[in-house]
Amino acid sequence: MKDYLSKLRKDYSLMELSEQDVAVNPFSQLERWMTEAANSGIIEPNAMTLSTVDKDLRPHSRIVLLRNFNHHGLFFYTNYQSEKAKNIDVNPHVSLSFFWVELERQVRIEGIAKKISLLESTEYFHSRPIENQISAWASPQSQVIESREVLEEQVKHYKKKFKNVSVIEKPPHWGGFIVVPILFEFWQGRPSRLHDRIRYRLKHQDEWIIERLAP
Ligand SMILES: Cc1cc2nc3c(=O)[nH]c(=O)nc-3n(C[C@H](O)[C@H](O)[C@H](O)COP(=O)(O)O)c2cc1C
Repeated sequence: MKDYLSKLRKDYSLMELSEQDVAVNPFSQLERWMTEAANSGIIEPNAMTLSTVDKDLRPHSRIVLLRNFNHHGLFFYTNYQSEKAKNIDVNPHVSLSFFWVELERQVRIEGIAKKISLLESTEYFHSRPIENQISAWASPQSQVIESREVLEEQVKHYKKKFKNVSVIEKPPHWGGFIVVPILFEFWQGRPSRLHDRIRYRLKHQDEWIIERLAP
């Protein structure tokens, strides 16, 4: 395995990124790159690594799906009693990262996570497939469970409970977060590891400093 891993070498040469090319606003730049990722057939280009830090300063990372973004921030949905949500409760500083190997691109974002309004979470909850709505009720995310069967029993229980209900109520423990960024980095792979890295740092509200970083 060591031989295999140490010899893996992919040179990146598809595209370039310069200070002149990028949008003045990082959300517009993200929109450009997300559109290109979507149009290039990448499976789940909205899958992003979310890193949080717990009360003992230990970091934790996992994938979540980006469900929307606008000039206020980036939105994802989860269980408010999960480990990630507990981390955010004690420390709202989070980071997000995307890696689109087909485009030789990485995007890193750092910011503050906040719960979105009940209305926004409810609206999104009802846009999900019914089976996913049931799963949100059935799964005590991040808790130890005895077996797969226990989970499936819970699914059966909630399916029965909501059988004759036209609209399934949103579980109180389920909802969205918005990550309000203070930093973005757009990384474009280049030959010989001399990659392009363009960083946006928030100066004032909606005013960003654009800098090039050494690869
Ligand atoms: C492709 C992919 C997409 C995922 N999307 C979500 C998501 O949007 N929300 C979520 O809570 N978990 C999502 N998960 C599961 C998380 O990675 C994680 O297992 C779960 O949220 C529990 O994390 P926690 O115990 O750190 O809170 C996804 C996993 C993968 C691999």
